[in-house]
Amino acid sequence: MNSTTRAFIDFEGVTLEDVETLFSVAHRFEKHLQLPLVPHTLGLIFLEPSTRTRCSFEVAGLKLGLRVFNLESAESSVMKGESLEDTLLNLDAMGPSLLVVRHGTKELLREIAPRLKSKIISGGEGITGHPTQALLDVLTIYRARKGFKKERVLIIGDVIHSRVAHSHFDLLHLIGFEIAVCGPREWLGIEKDSRIKHFSRLEEGLQWATIAMSLRIQKERHDKNASSSFEELVSSFQLNAKSLRHLSEDGFIMHPGPVNRDVEMTREAMEDSRCLILKQVNNGVILRGALMASMLGIKI
Ligand code: NCD
Repeated sequence: MNSTTRAFIDFEGVTLEDVETLFSVAHRFEKHLQLPLVPHTLGLIFLEPSTRTRCSFEVAGLKLGLRVFNLESAESSVMKGESLEDTLLNLDAMGPSLLVVRHGTKELLREIAPRLKSKIISGGEGITGHPTQALLDVLTIYRARKGFKKERVLIIGDVIHSRVAHSHFDLLHLIGFEIAVCGPREWLGIEKDSRIKHFSRLEEGLQWATIAMSLRIQKERHDKNASSSFEELVSSFQLNAKSLRHLSEDGFIMHPGPVNRDVEMTREAMEDSRCLILKQVNNGVILRGALMASMLGIKI
């Protein structure tokens, strides 16, 4: 990721060295309170709900000295029937330096990106991927462990509908971490990938893992037909005081947010000293700042 990168949508072509370079820019960015205004405009185009991702791009953009504008779905012409493609081509015609786009359609950014003059970053795309979330999660692990150690990451819950999990399958393999999944069978669907282990019991998975990464149930991406998987997740795959006894003392608990309390995890799990959730949010700002600075050629 550098000033020649036009689009950051997935991990194709990204190397371990790229990731480490980005992390060192993030460490430097953390020490800067505010850079002087630079001649770049950042557009945040969020057509699906967001709290952490949109605000952290905005906070990071302001600290970098960018001018920021926002478009959210409720106020956009997508509501009048305009396609996302046309919306992006029109915003691009206004000449921003960089667009961050979140939307719900599978694999659309890859097709649109080459047609834009502005640079583009995925802010989360359908179930396809959420690469900056995966990067900030790995940055959080890297900082908590003071470098890359061998990790075994257990991804828990609604894996098949999670764009965060899909990005992690690519990034964690690139870093060399082992991955396993665990959750209601209906929500796994990755049995064919021989690189990913599967635990049918949460306790066994937690004994194996060094990182327990829970995911939000993606209700908005489920079929309307009633499913028993929700109850199964709460009864058998919830992170709570009892299940977390199986995770080692130096293990970590993570969740990309938003958490449904008492569904994926309980208050005790969120307040456990091993829980990194707010560190993930904090690292989101510096990781996204570092990525934007690198792509826009802003020296930090
Ligand atoms: C995730 C997302 O929107 O993909 N949240 C986030 O960006 N922090 C996960 C989710 O919504 O479940």
